Amino acid sequence: MAVANQNFRIITVADNEEAGRVAAEIFISLVREKPNAVLGLATGSSPVNMYKAMIKDYLENNTNYTDVCTFNLDEYIGLPSNHEQSYANFMRKNLFDHINIQLKNTHIPNGMAKSPEIECVEYEKAIESAGGVDLQILGIGSNGHIAFNEPGTPFSCPTHIVELTEQTRLDNARFFNSISEVPTQAITSGISTIMKSKQIVLIATGAKKANAIRALLEGSQTEDVPATVLKNHPNLTIIADDAALSK
Ligand code: GLP
Repeated sequence: MAVANQNFRIITVADNEEAGRVAAEIFISLVREKPNAVLGLATGSSPVNMYKAMIKDYLENNTNYTDVCTFNLDEYIGLPSNHEQSYANFMRKNLFDHINIQLKNTHIPNGMAKSPEIECVEYEKAIESAGGVDLQILGIGSNGHIAFNEPGTPFSCPTHIVELTEQTRLDNARFFNSISEVPTQAITSGISTIMKSKQIVLIATGAKKANAIRALLEGSQTEDVPATVLKNHPNLTIIADDAALSK
């Protein structure tokens, strides 16, 4: 069911699998329309089924990614790109290795950069030189974070270095052997970087996201819940299941 509400559209789905299929359709139609589209990609479990649906479509319909360019939202500081839990590795495993995208056209902040500060400035510039992100996929953290913009991040922030909150490290610890292995810092696209995307699709499924989605849909805009900034975006689609919409 799709509901239009001011600036944004909510599409209610049964589960993450359906969310993935619906989001993939939006991405695939853009790539067909604009073969050199700039896609904003995300990690985490939310977009995995979307990537699966894109791979399925690539195998069945030969959607062409040769001229597509991508920018990921974030990367842990201190993990080399070949580390099992780096977001670079995640993207290769879950998408890039399975479609005909050119790896040279894919961008992820370098978590091993000698100067993470310079890496942030260059990453922001690279997005601008590519013409900006046409379509951004987002997940949402249980505390309302987007990318790694934790509560309290100014809405005006460009790409920057973050200290990860205990909550986010705990949420992500399931991918590591223990919480002590979860990095404490990351490079993340800023809220202003995300808001410059021409179109945004947010996937939220599962009860853990209910508080964050309630704040986004019903609460006032506050830097304490970074996702609430998205209400200002002119072209936002929220794809959510009943559990995420339950509050
Ligand atoms: C991490 C990522 C975010 C993601 C969030 C939610 O913190 N940096 O980009 O949206 O997790 O993760 P999940 O989709 O696994 O619930």
